[in-house]
Amino acid sequence: MGGSRTNISTGPAGRPWRFDLALDGGASVPRQTQLSRAIIQEIRRGRLLPGATLPGSRTLAAQLKVNRKVVVAAVGELVAQGWLEALPARGTRVALNLPTLAVADAEGRRSVGAAPAQRRAAVIAVSDGVPDARIAPVDQLARAQRRALRALTRTGLGYGDAAGDPVLRDVLAGFVNHARGLSCSSEEVVLTRGSQGALSLFALAMLEPGEVVAVEHPGYAPAWRAFRLARAEVVHVPVDAEGLRTDELEAHAKRLKGRLKAVYVTPHHQYPTTVAMSAERRMHLRRICETYRLYIVEDDYDYEYHFEGAPLLPLSATKDLSSRCVYIASLSKLIAPALRLGYIIADRSVVARLSSVRELLDRQGDVVLERAVAELIEDGEVQRHARRARQLYRERRDHLLEQLASRPPLCAALACDPPGGGLALWLRLRGVTSEELARRAHARDVTLTPGSAHVADGSLPAFRFGFAAHTTEELSAICDTLEACLKPDAGAKRR
Ligand SMILES: Cc1ncc(COP(=O)(O)O)c(C=O)c1O
Repeated sequence: MGGSRTNISTGPAGRPWRFDLALDGGASVPRQTQLSRAIIQEIRRGRLLPGATLPGSRTLAAQLKVNRKVVVAAVGELVAQGWLEALPARGTRVALNLPTLAVADAEGRRSVGAAPAQRRAAVIAVSDGVPDARIAPVDQLARAQRRALRALTRTGLGYGDAAGDPVLRDVLAGFVNHARGLSCSSEEVVLTRGSQGALSLFALAMLEPGEVVAVEHPGYAPAWRAFRLARAEVVHVPVDAEGLRTDELEAHAKRLKGRLKAVYVTPHHQYPTTVAMSAERRMHLRRICETYRLYIVEDDYDYEYHFEGAPLLPLSATKDLSSRCVYIASLSKLIAPALRLGYIIADRSVVARLSSVRELLDRQGDVVLERAVAELIEDGEVQRHARRARQLYRERRDHLLEQLASRPPLCAALACDPPGGGLALWLRLRGVTSEELARRAHARDVTLTPGSAHVADGSLPAFRFGFAAHTTEELSAICDTLEACLKPDAGAKRR
């Protein structure tokens, strides 16, 4: 199918602007993405200046001969990314403060991604898998917080329940029962400062000095540190393509006799390797926890992000085991880490101990935020956001996989088993250590966390590439940098 080509004249910043754009209906890239990329290109080239008003969606759609939905979706994405701003009743204009993106190109340190007036050095942080806060439903949250503050002023701004706002606990119980197959009541929910707060609270309330927690290795090191906070010991259990090696766990359980108290797992997408724990391993893990009376601390940090069909239910959805399950989740990946809102679902006796320690630590949480989030879940806003985010992050994952597969230097140096979900890829390296790659990338203004962050000691030739917080253009730019870093003479050049 042939492309449509159009010239649009308008007067951004008082000057005529000609938008030469060919949308190719037969291309593998959707037209919405073609259009959003073309607009970003115009901004990057400085042809569309900050403050310039765009033609209305009907005009653009008619001129490009596409359905208006394509234009609305492309513009919506660019508003979410911060390139455009929607002005009530006045249309859409180029943002006054553009998202900056500076990446060294192959020849030097020319920065791209910002209009000439805004060009400045900026570092791109490749995270271990954070969501894109630019698409978070912040306006809805702000309005809900205002309403919550008003409503609570009458009766609810005193000291409250250490386990957290009863309304949010009730709403969360319904949410996880419906969406994740759990069967809990609000009395089995404790709100925390994110999952990290949940891990530390579990450690302080449930572990005695000298008791042992088995953890995945490689794994999520901040959890290990939380257990050690309570002077507990940590034993590392290896992970393979099916998740935690349960045979090794059982060997530790036998050896440690009663000292092994809990096992900490990330079965949905193992952190950092992203593998999903197999059904056989899940069953074996349940049997071990029954036999040796271990708590299963299940960190379900990214349950919403499954891209291929329905995800496996959490281990904590198993009724016969529920008294030994400590289920931890948070809104950090679902909405944004800065909310610092997480929760634990556990047996009532465990909840009582957690609550009494929480009372000593920070008395209670942020009741205004908690009540507002309850409203957003009840209204379905959080669920709508999750659906939008899932779709967007799937596109970003696919784009990154495509970039990695289509560039020979990246194919040669990086291997990946595409995960069925989550917010990051686990890239295994050939021919270069992750520390060396991180050094080379840093010299080109891109930071990444080397594999050594996820092991007890030594290094690991792999790293997590969080894709969700980056637009497809940003992902391509990061791949440009990685490609430059992985050329045979890259290390020598930059030293
Ligand atoms: C496996 C895992 N657990 C817990 C956390 C902590 O999340 P929160 O922001 O909810 O404390 C993270 C954050 O990246 C994580 O990756």
